[in-house]
Amino acid sequence: MPANDMSAIVSLCKRRGFIFQSSDIYGGLKGVYDYGPLGVELKNNVKSSWWRHMVYQRDDVEGLDAAIIAHRKLFQYSGHEDGFHDPLVECKKCHARMRQDKMADPTKCDECGSTELTPPRTFNLLFPVKAGPVGDDGEHNAYLRGETCQHIFANFKNVMDSTGRRPPFGIAQIGKAYRNEIIARNFIFRMREFEQLELEYFVKPGTDEDWFNHWREQSKAWWVSLGLADDHVKEEELAADDLPHYAKRTIDMEYKFVHGFDEIESINNRTDYDLGNHTKGQDEFPIHAKVRENKDSNTKMAVQDIETKEWYIPYVVEASFGLDRAVMAVLTEAYTEETLENGDTRTVLKFKPHLAPIKAAVIPLAKNKPELVELAKKVKDDLQRLGLGRVMLEMSGNVGKAYRKHDEVGTPVCITVDFDSLEDGAVTLRDRDTMQQQRLPIASLPAKLLEIVNT
Ligand code: GAP
Repeated sequence: MPANDMSAIVSLCKRRGFIFQSSDIYGGLKGVYDYGPLGVELKNNVKSSWWRHMVYQRDDVEGLDAAIIAHRKLFQYSGHEDGFHDPLVECKKCHARMRQDKMADPTKCDECGSTELTPPRTFNLLFPVKAGPVGDDGEHNAYLRGETCQHIFANFKNVMDSTGRRPPFGIAQIGKAYRNEIIARNFIFRMREFEQLELEYFVKPGTDEDWFNHWREQSKAWWVSLGLADDHVKEEELAADDLPHYAKRTIDMEYKFVHGFDEIESINNRTDYDLGNHTKGQDEFPIHAKVRENKDSNTKMAVQDIETKEWYIPYVVEASFGLDRAVMAVLTEAYTEETLENGDTRTVLKFKPHLAPIKAAVIPLAKNKPELVELAKKVKDDLQRLGLGRVMLEMSGNVGKAYRKHDEVGTPVCITVDFDSLEDGAVTLRDRDTMQQQRLPIASLPAKLLEIVNT
């Protein structure tokens, strides 16, 4: 049963060390968050699940990790310098600044209700930066990337030449992106610094619709594999006047957040917009979505068809999502409050085990008995060596408190080492969801944990 109260999740995230407001000691910076000890594990687990699914389990996708600071021209020819803005409205009375298309009522200030508003003006979302010793009055020469994929397009030839790939093939990348959002709200839903996981899949023109459908299906299946209920993820096709400047067709994947269904991923048919506008020699091959003359690029982005010998600019099908929104969806879906038989309430994060920040907690029954602690430490070290993720030696509180804590952070199993363990070489394994306990030989634990995490 997913959460229906966001404040409970936000407070759990802070209390247990998932997510903190960034620069909190100075009052916080809006739209910027830091991930704590458990948040970083959860993020890493989502990333590695995606990387396995995208790169390792397929034979047609390569990886990339490009720079965050981008040459200004990369975001000029991508169309972002001219076209990546939102409508900004200011209240003349309280000076609140709002994004017009997200206001509750575009005729009234969201903050004070005044109807005295400035006319909307375009507000560019890119963060300009000065890279190198540019003088104070010098123009900025770079941007923090507003989407990670522009570096994938810039490296298209490098990846193709170094790997011998020809379309259809893809390039996957995980990394930070920056947008100076007018309003940052709903916790980590809309941020100014966030992380994207983007796949750009290069195909022959004419095959793009089939590939678009392929990636839609893959995408939905992957979200469900994270534990999101099938009916909590739905597709929303964008109308023509809502399409991003680079797309011929867009389907957003939406998740049922506490604030309602909202976008978690964008599947785009970007046609030859990106490679066609970044390529050298634009007159040498047909380009369907050319917007700008490019006199600056030194690289041809065209590919020769092996059979017809004709040169063409590949079309791009993109599957792009924000890691922070994925984390928020996974937390929302996993958050559960249960009433126990004795009337107490138990909070549990019912993560899929492969996403759980801590895979198992090993608890010595008495912390002041060195022989128990030593055996617990050995059990922990042996399980840690499996490489499944973090295994924790739990030294705080009594066993009951340790169970509650690990329920709340979503640890799939707790393993208690007691005095009998010293004699019989067995331990008690307690399941997070059922709370059932079973006695198991220590020697069987690695296989058991592998089974739990891989299902
Ligand atoms: N390369 C295509 C692209 O960037 P987008 O729809 O602007 O498309 C893709 O962004 C995904 O990135 C979104 O579906 C969302 O998950 C995430 N995203 C976008 N802006 C975000 C923000 N300000 N904060 C958090 N995530 C964001």
